[in-house]
Order: sequence, then C-alpha cells, then structure tokens
Amino acid sequence: MEIAATVETLAARDFHGPLTGRRVIVTSGPTHEPIDPVRYIANRSSGKQGHAIAEAAAQAGADVTLVSGPVNLPDPPGVKTVHVESARDMLVAVEKALPADVAIFAAAVADWRVAQADSQKIKKAAGGAPELSLTENPDILATVAHKTAKRPQLVIGFAAETEKVVEHAKAKLNSKGCDWIIANDVSAKSGVMGGEDNTVHLVTGSGVESWPKQSKDDVARQLITRVAAAIAGQLQ
Ligand code: C5P
Repeated sequence: MEIAATVETLAARDFHGPLTGRRVIVTSGPTHEPIDPVRYIANRSSGKQGHAIAEAAAQAGADVTLVSGPVNLPDPPGVKTVHVESARDMLVAVEKALPADVAIFAAAVADWRVAQADSQKIKKAAGGAPELSLTENPDILATVAHKTAKRPQLVIGFAAETEKVVEHAKAKLNSKGCDWIIANDVSAKSGVMGGEDNTVHLVTGSGVESWPKQSKDDVARQLITRVAAAIAGQLQ
C-alpha cells in the first residue's frame, strides 16, 4: 500500500526546470505492422533511449507527451504516455499532441506495412509461403518537420546507422527537414541495441559534436540540456 502511494506521488509530481512551460513530444519504441492477427513486421527497438529522453524532459519541467510503440518498459513518471501499435497510429497520436515547442523522434518506425493485412490467421499451405505485398508507411518525422502550421520550433530525429554514421546523418538532416539529428552506430559491434550505453553524434546545421560513450540516461540528460539552451537562446 505504502509503496504504491509513493510511486503515485512521484508520477504526479510537478518538476520545475529550464523547460517549465514548454511542450515536448517524444516518440519511442518500435511499431508493429500487422500481417494477420498474430504476426507482424517490426524493427528492433527496446524504447530505452526514447523513454529516457521523455523522462529527462519531464524532469526539466516540460509538459511531455510520449507516443510509444509496444515496449517492455514502465511509463516514465510525470509523462503523459500514449500507447500505439502501428506507424499510422503513431502519426495520428503525434498530430493530436501538437502544438509543441520541441518534438524528438526516437521511435524505430517500420518503413513498410503489409498493404492488405489479413483479418484471419494465414494458414500454412503445402504450396509454399504466402507473398506479402508491402506499402510505405508515413514518415512521421518528415511530416512534422515539413509542416507550415504547428511546426515545433525544434524538430529532432535519430539516425541509426551501421556505417558512415555522420555522413548518412547529414544527408538525413536535409531529406527529413529536421533541425538536429542524433546519429548512433547500431552495428553489431557497438552493442547499442537493447544495451544500456550509447555513443552518439549531434548533427546540426552548423556542425557535428561527438559525445563520449555514456548511458542512455546520460545521453537523454545531455540532449535535454542542449534543447533547453537552444530554446532559451532561440538557436536552431
Ligand atoms: O529514415 P530513417 O528510418 O532512418 O529515419 C530515422 C528517423 O526518422 C528517426 O527519428 C525515426 O523516428 C523517424 N521516422 C519516422 N517515421 C518513419 C520512419 C522514420 O518518424 N516512418
């Protein structure tokens, strides 16, 4: 009883800090794109980095909406968490959460979905595997970054790369229309996937900062400190 009450009090606590009065949207986790009622397409993502960012933003005083795909993580304290499954649901939830001052897209959104998901479980047949026809999902980051009305002042994307990490991130900054990209090396040797640590590069219009290897919680806190400074100075 007592423990439950303590957790509730913490969740409801008002934090004050450099982002007090600011609205922040964060996406996190994978999306699941149904093939039939029991099968889906997904990207690998634990949601640890996105959830840590949402929590750090709340601790800095922001009013945070976290739009999360399916993850095995608790909802961060002090954050409004909206649970979604697919990319299309994630886009609807993000649009609903606008306007915001800052939007940080850390979700590993599936690039494609099955054009016609089956309403019944597809049966295994002797004739071989079924053919899946795929169609492109909406790009949530690019959609929000290209908005003319309700575009957040600061739009931040992630680039998970396995090679030429910074080069690919710079190209993504332009193609997505966002202000910053957090580039991280997700090659097998980096151990980032599902791990506690992350080595990232902050790519902005004015250059690249390589941050030391640190915990995902520390990456989140460093990012939120940078965001608060940018918002305060109206820098982009
Ligand atoms: O194109 P790519 O998936 O590498 O881009 C990664 C960035 O774009 C991440 O910030 C991710 O959250 C975002 N993204 C998105 N919607 C998609 C695909 C990616 O918001 N459909």
